[in-house]
Amino acid sequence: MADIFDNYRDEFRARVLGGRPRTLLEIGSGDGGFLKTVKGEVERLCGIDPDAQNVSNLRAEGFEAIQGSAEKLPFADGEFDVVVFSFTPHHIADWAAGLNEAMRVARHSVEILDVWYDDTIADQRTAHALDRWLKTIDRRMGMVHNDTLSPGALLEPVMGRRNVTFDYACRRIASPLNIEETMAEGHAKLAKVDNDPALAAEFEQIISAARREGMTDEGAILMTIEK
Ligand SMILES: C[S@@+](CC[C@H](N)C(=O)[O-])C[C@H]1O[C@@H](n2cnc3c(N)ncnc32)[C@H](O)[C@@H]1O
Repeated sequence: MADIFDNYRDEFRARVLGGRPRTLLEIGSGDGGFLKTVKGEVERLCGIDPDAQNVSNLRAEGFEAIQGSAEKLPFADGEFDVVVFSFTPHHIADWAAGLNEAMRVARHSVEILDVWYDDTIADQRTAHALDRWLKTIDRRMGMVHNDTLSPGALLEPVMGRRNVTFDYACRRIASPLNIEETMAEGHAKLAKVDNDPALAAEFEQIISAARREGMTDEGAILMTIEK
């Protein structure tokens, strides 16, 4: 069954291909979740990711893939028409460096898709609290897994530049999260930090709030930054 992320990915794909790019780089290409949606649509399609296994899997599937990080890209200025971040900004340790590098190697634009919560709505605040809690545990285990970046935080590194234009859309398909499944996921996560009492207490509070207010799936932000 298609999940809500397929809807966000479909809209993002149309947005990225709308300007008919000939060359495209994806930063943080992972297992190709985005690259596969645009395969065959551009003359040069390239992914870069720090994870050696991801890179080797993509190469085995015929993609141009390079091992490396957003903060220092091994590409020339303006080498790609479009540079894409798909569900990656909140994984990058130094977002300012990553976005500035993307702007350097992009000829026309940088396109961003990432998770977004509507904090004006109670059932989204509970989902955002859960997301922050899960990421706290990921960080304790050594992963870079930051809170979602607001539109302002995504744009902050380029706000001082002249001649940069941007627009963005925030999308949300209202879809309730199953609290029992969320509890099972949370308890499995807690076991990874030896059921830390402070985190266990925080989780109980999040679940109580979810029972009162509801809890819904994440939305997405789609952003274009043009040079
Ligand atoms: C959630 S996955 C997204 C994968 C893919 N872009 C997609 O849309 O399915 C995040 C990816 O960011 C990569 N990543 C983490 N830190 C990075 C960095 N500093 N520079 C580039 N990629 C990074 C991870 O290795 C991972 O593959």
